Amino acid sequence: MSAENMEYLTIALPKGKVFTKAVDLFSKIGYTAEGLSDKSRKLIIVNEEKKIRFIITKTADVPVYVEYGAADIGIIGKDVLLESAKDVYELLDLNIAKCHLMMAVPKKLKRLRLIDYANTRVATKFPHIAASFFNSRGMQMEYIKLHGSIELGPIVGLSESIVDIVETGTTLRENDLEEYAFIADATARLIANRVSFKLKFSRINQMTEELRQVINK
Ligand code: PRP
Repeated sequence: MSAENMEYLTIALPKGKVFTKAVDLFSKIGYTAEGLSDKSRKLIIVNEEKKIRFIITKTADVPVYVEYGAADIGIIGKDVLLESAKDVYELLDLNIAKCHLMMAVPKKLKRLRLIDYANTRVATKFPHIAASFFNSRGMQMEYIKLHGSIELGPIVGLSESIVDIVETGTTLRENDLEEYAFIADATARLIANRVSFKLKFSRINQMTEELRQVINK
């Protein structure tokens, strides 16, 4: 075994929607570990034979663990990655957890043009993404950071619009909102720490290529 392969490869997985899909994907390339389940309260799960260590973190924290090198690689939605603005390598679009970022507004109060929303309030979990979208269109906005149930914002008069992810569209429909502008695709990505990518290059590169073979295009 080479020196590189003697070391653990630490993989950060986010709790929540992406977890099971990420675990399925890794199991297809033989990266598994006993007890790797989102029901478990264990935060580190090790496969001694393969020298792999999975760490299970809150979604928004995956890029933090990877940027600081506490995890060599991680899986994270592009939405969270963009918002975090962390200095990590994005290696692969895993094409799981398909969703996109968009601006939505109440159907009944829909304004004619995007510019008609200038200087209004936007409720969002993603203020940086929202600001970059509106700034690039020369629009000044007021951003109201929420932590969930973003769709409630315009319904109760907190904001005129939202910037959020949409997956099936059910939440928008059930709350009489309508997608108004597409912002970006937000599938899950494989990311790597910059130093780990160099020091553990052959393992990370091989794993990336194996994942590339099994992802659904
Ligand atoms: C996300 C997102 C939307 C919803 C979109 O919320 O913020 O509310 O999913 O999914 P849909 O298009 O399939 O309805 P999440 O379920 O993560 O919960 P949150 O609102 O508490 O953030």
